[in-house]
Amino acid sequence: MRKNIVAGNWKMNNDLAETQELLSKLKLQMVKEPEATVMVAPSFTNLYPTFQALKDTPVIVAAQNMHESEKGAYTGEVSASMLKSIGINTVIIGHSERRAYFNETNDILAKKVQTAIDNEMKVIFCFGEELDDRRSNKHFDLVETQLKESLFQLPQSAWSKIILAYEPVWAIGTGETASPEQAQEMHKHVRDLLNKNVGKEVAENTSILYGGSVKPNNAKEIFAKEDVDGGLIGGASLNAVDFVAIVNSF
Ligand code: 13P
Repeated sequence: MRKNIVAGNWKMNNDLAETQELLSKLKLQMVKEPEATVMVAPSFTNLYPTFQALKDTPVIVAAQNMHESEKGAYTGEVSASMLKSIGINTVIIGHSERRAYFNETNDILAKKVQTAIDNEMKVIFCFGEELDDRRSNKHFDLVETQLKESLFQLPQSAWSKIILAYEPVWAIGTGETASPEQAQEMHKHVRDLLNKNVGKEVAENTSILYGGSVKPNNAKEIFAKEDVDGGLIGGASLNAVDFVAIVNSF
């Protein structure tokens, strides 16, 4: 059975003091046994304090990115083993902001995913179309290419480590969400692609999250769709009350 997951992507927000404040609020708000697996992804500098603060809770701490090489002369980068050495076993790969602003191609992302799998890490793999792709009705093909070029080379055994996150770029930080029907339509397309390219078991067991302006007032309706297994939350995850309300939307 696939899991329901709600993950907060804090992006490049919050210094150490602000992170600690958000963490204390989260710990106060969060029920002991939430209905979903809960994850948060702080910036690199706040990973270790966040991991320490959440150690005695079920919340999983994830990184927002990592480098594809094991180590070496890559000034400014962070490796899988560095993350693992501070207790971080989950990483977001392929966020549209990394693709758009840091030139991360499907090919680079395939390497990052492989490195994460080699290091026995879990991956939240993001994909999704831009507004122009949707307007020209290319969104299904574009998503298929993103998945094919970065993930479908993986052996079946790696898929227990993969969580998918469909994030239409036009819905990120814009206040405009995909309708629950648009989300369901794409998630079903992705599950069908998994079925065809990887196998029925993986298709059934892989969680597919939706991301893009998920808020407490729309989460329930989106999460109720058959192929939507939770959300990857940006803006609303920076507010403990809103984030916990979204976690409690199943
Ligand atoms: P928003 O929830 O702010 O639209 O961001 C979504 C996102 O990019 C999560 O990774």
